[in-house]
Amino acid sequence: MKILGIETSCDETAAAVVEDGVRILSNQIASQVEIHARYGGIVPEVASRQHILAIIPVIERAMAEARATWNDLDGIAVTIGPGLAGSLLVGVNVAKTIALARGLPITGVNHLEGHIYANWLIGQNRSFTPLFPLVCLIVSGGHSDLVLMRGHGDYVVLGRTRDDAAGEAFDKAARILGLGYPGGPAIEQAARSGTTASIQLPRAWLKGSSDFSFSGVKTALLRLVEGGRVSNRADAAASFQEAVIDVLVAKAVAAVKERRVKQILLAGGVASNGLLRQWLVQNSPIPVLVPEPILCTDNAAMIAACGYYRLQASKIDGLDLDVIPNLKLA
Ligand code: KG4
Ligand code: ZN
Repeated sequence: MKILGIETSCDETAAAVVEDGVRILSNQIASQVEIHARYGGIVPEVASRQHILAIIPVIERAMAEARATWNDLDGIAVTIGPGLAGSLLVGVNVAKTIALARGLPITGVNHLEGHIYANWLIGQNRSFTPLFPLVCLIVSGGHSDLVLMRGHGDYVVLGRTRDDAAGEAFDKAARILGLGYPGGPAIEQAARSGTTASIQLPRAWLKGSSDFSFSGVKTALLRLVEGGRVSNRADAAASFQEAVIDVLVAKAVAAVKERRVKQILLAGGVASNGLLRQWLVQNSPIPVLVPEPILCTDNAAMIAACGYYRLQASKIDGLDLDVIPNLKLA
């Protein structure tokens, strides 16, 4: 079964064809990062306009790369939220048009659920597939959620951020340190030549809770910079990265120790961070699955993978399908 996935929730215009929810036949992404970098963050009006310009060529490239014709497709999966309304609308309207024109079933996908399903895609070096029940740590630009997944589409949210998301914290810290946008990769890169000994940053443990809070560590960093107490940006980046990852790993490990789960999954853009991947693998008592970095950040292959399982469960939407910018996972 071949599904065309479409993703336009934020600043990547993406389309992909995935077979049986696991095999990537194509994965095309047009990034707007360079355009938004000029403003130091995403400008919603600019994003939706760029999606309009890019969406048709990106879908055509995805179909060509997969060597697929419209007749080869069995369904369409499109992100309906959470995300920027004007951006989501572009993908949803194009998806509905194709579904109507070709008589294909369409299913609306939660972007966060899509991030989780990146773990079902067969990447270059994957030795095992996900097994239920599992715990998933979703860490992206907009979310930090710790989720118990009992089966396909069956989620219990164990904890979420009370303020900034992990990726958002990385982006803000990079801005404070003048490291540019997007901040996560910039902090990780700078941290490679830094050490953590000279700068101590706080961790919000929120004892007894699986929730997160990252605004305190960001503010602490800001105070140090404003007070002229940061002489080496690499050291500050290393300390910041470690403070955030320390909490993410500790809370994820605590959550799996409290429950009988088989695996822990990492998902979302921050999951491409090397230190997070390494520490989680080192500290988890059960197997850890992580998509390869290109499948951690926004892409449409993950949307097609999730869409496959939704269509298998007969979760077919009508042509009244609409965007839900503040859509929740559960
Ligand atoms: O999942 P994603 O591509 O988009 C959202 O759904 O938000 O995540 C983007 C976020 C950004 O905040 C970015 O700074 C962060 O993921 N990120 C990273 C790394 N690569 C991307 N954070 C830490 N380390 C990285 N290597
Ligand atoms: Zn995302």
